[in-house]
Amino acid sequence: MKDALREACALLEQGEVVALPTETVYGLAADAFNPAAVAKVFSVKERPSFDPLIVHIASRGDLKRVAIVPDDIAETVDKLASNFWPGPLTLILPRHPDVPDLVTSGLPTVAVRQSAHPVFRAINKALGRPIAAPSANRFGSISPTSASAVLKELGGRIPLVVDAGACCEGLESTIISIEPREGKKPVFRLHRAGPVTKEMLQPFGKVEKVRDPVGQAPQAPGQLASHYAPRTPLVLLEKPEDFIPEEGKRYGLLSYTGSDDGRYVNLHDWETVESLSPGSGKLAEAAIRLFYVVRRLDEAGLDAIIAEPVSETGLGVAIMDRLRRAAAKPSTLS
Ligand code: TXA
Ligand code: MG
Repeated sequence: MKDALREACALLEQGEVVALPTETVYGLAADAFNPAAVAKVFSVKERPSFDPLIVHIASRGDLKRVAIVPDDIAETVDKLASNFWPGPLTLILPRHPDVPDLVTSGLPTVAVRQSAHPVFRAINKALGRPIAAPSANRFGSISPTSASAVLKELGGRIPLVVDAGACCEGLESTIISIEPREGKKPVFRLHRAGPVTKEMLQPFGKVEKVRDPVGQAPQAPGQLASHYAPRTPLVLLEKPEDFIPEEGKRYGLLSYTGSDDGRYVNLHDWETVESLSPGSGKLAEAAIRLFYVVRRLDEAGLDAIIAEPVSETGLGVAIMDRLRRAAAKPSTLS
């Protein structure tokens, strides 16, 4: 592994892009201060340049290299960093002029987090510079939670994938921006639900969702309605009775527990059934397995994936967000 870290660092220093594990999903990393390297991230992912990247810092001290924290939210940023960094919380803050335009898509703000993954942290620290890293998938497709998933997405396009096994969170970081309020706790605008849940953020501020951008210019440009989509159509079945199978079509079920008293499992003679949390129904396990299971179903040659909803509390909010985006029609992609 030491050799892989050294090689990753050398490539990043040369302005190359490499896939690295984080605790959430695998990222496609580049030196955030090298615009040519950042440009490669966009071309490898086929990502439109209006969709900005997350910048990863090696230490809290590095925050001032990429963002300018206004006085009126400084205390809040400090509290959030103490409680959630290193970890899966991304903060949108006013950007430092050293951050290239390409990283932020010309926005006056920058998205920042500190990854908790030991391999990512070691490389970030050794490089001595912030790392810009989106999820290591082609634009609009499912985020990779293993090195083999990265290879399926980007194999042949990048010089190195550092394999550290499966990601322990399985969903992309929670993204918030902070609005101060006189004499009150701040408002956190939730740009993307993720492993740091509303319940976890509430002690520090009031959490409000950013309205979804269907049909409008998105607030968080990457939060397009159709995202995280498999190639096979995915239908999120909010009620079992809504399922009307077509003759001769092959359907696979994305089940929560695989044994839900027959509500979904016994609804149809499924080609295949995959469970997010087999038997037990634990949201944390479901989050870790979600992209892996959707990928497996996508590879099963089905006409459609029928997904069962999970309860929309805690981590279930982020899981349902990803399922809804996977189910949105590609035509809503602007
Ligand atoms: O867990 C994660 O966040 C992973 C790992 C690799 O760190 N990264 C990730 O990056 O999910 P990506 O590029 O797939 O998603 C980043 C999201 C996009 O939706 C983008 O629009 C949003 O962050 N974003 C970045 N900068 C922003 C900004 N200044 N304002 C609003 N949204 C921003
Ligand atoms: Mg992504």
